[in-house]
Amino acid sequence: MNIILLGAPGAGKGTQASKIANKYKLLHISTGDIFRANIKNGTEIGKLAKSYTDSGKLVPDEVTCEIVKDRLTWDDAQHGYMLDGFPRNIYQAQQLDKFAKVDVCLNIDVDESLLMDRICGRRVCACGESYHVSTLNGATTCAKCGGKLYQRPDDVPETVKTRLDTYKSQTAPLIDYYKAQGKLVSVKSGEGSPDLVFEQICKIFDKYDK
Ligand code: AP5
Repeated sequence: MNIILLGAPGAGKGTQASKIANKYKLLHISTGDIFRANIKNGTEIGKLAKSYTDSGKLVPDEVTCEIVKDRLTWDDAQHGYMLDGFPRNIYQAQQLDKFAKVDVCLNIDVDESLLMDRICGRRVCACGESYHVSTLNGATTCAKCGGKLYQRPDDVPETVKTRLDTYKSQTAPLIDYYKAQGKLVSVKSGEGSPDLVFEQICKIFDKYDK
């Protein structure tokens, strides 16, 4: 099963992705994580990506498409994968159609009014765990590994605004793109805990995972 995870910044793609990858044994490929790793390691891709991610704009399509195209040729991607954050515009989706076969696109739909608080309140750990300040009770370290929690540089209000605008103008049209291909399924997030959202997702994916 090859899946695309679609949703606005803060919709809960990353939160659900680790649960989905675990249950359905899928490789999780997050273009955002790939860019952050490159930035941390000071690679050429990282140097290029930083100005875009820090300002909430999309990294150029040629770079992003090439990274995903290459990643999908690795051995570990031959038994099912989940793309989180890719494609992010129609051009990327058209390129993906040329080099991969997608079975289903899951749209995580969230009321826009919830997103700013979710993102600006997010604290992350280098191990990949993510929290919201409201649930931390003042803790500054990760409950899973003890690592120090920090705020992503792009999780500040001005940048979040740009990310949401970018989503609306460039990424949201993908909902119709995948609907037209008969591949779109949707869940509503924000009206329940991440576990409840995951239950909805499982009801959908259990049908595909036969
Ligand atoms: P990326 O890392 O993909 O960021 P994003 O799409 O903006 O998504 P986020 O990681 O902010 O949110 P999420 O949906 O994963 O939410 P999460 O689960 O963490 O991209 C970053 C940047 O990289 C882009 O801006 C761009 O520059 C570049 N980039 C990436 N891909 C690209 C591409 N294809 N092309 C070009 N450029 C690209 O949840 C958010 C918060 O909500 C957390 O605090 C969580 O605890 C909480 N939460 C989650 N679910 C629930 C729930 N059900 N109830 C209550 N709280 C919840």
